[in-house]
Amino acid sequence: MIVVAIIMRLTYDCMCNHCDCNDKRPFHPLPMENPVKAPICKLQDIPAVGVKAVTFFGREYLVYRAGGEPRAVLNACMHLGGPLERKGDRFVCPWHGASFACSSGVRESGPKGTHDRLLPLPTRSENGELVYVYGE
Ligand code: FES
Repeated sequence: MIVVAIIMRLTYDCMCNHCDCNDKRPFHPLPMENPVKAPICKLQDIPAVGVKAVTFFGREYLVYRAGGEPRAVLNACMHLGGPLERKGDRFVCPWHGASFACSSGVRESGPKGTHDRLLPLPTRSENGELVYVYGE
């Protein structure tokens, strides 16, 4: 069974943290009967370089642009939960040096934690705002 799961993981291109589907988008939600949607921040407040920290449902997220596209990730390193700092096109954790690609959230170097990828918010740009969308 483990071999099958590994082969499935290598065969498909899904880059999200919660399924083995063949979706090519780096971050995508699973369909739900009652989708959730909530504004995160205004698009004009997201810097072209760097990050904007926002509190969303009690957690701190970093909103940023990668390739011009707005994104949001939980401000927590996947090793032991350290804070993230953006350095160029990477997020770096000052605690033990892990680094993650801004474009995909994938760990590029440093100690491995519970996940190999940062935890993104599924988002969409809508009416001048970055909006959290889940389950559509
Ligand atoms: S907590 Fe981030 S590298 Fe250890």
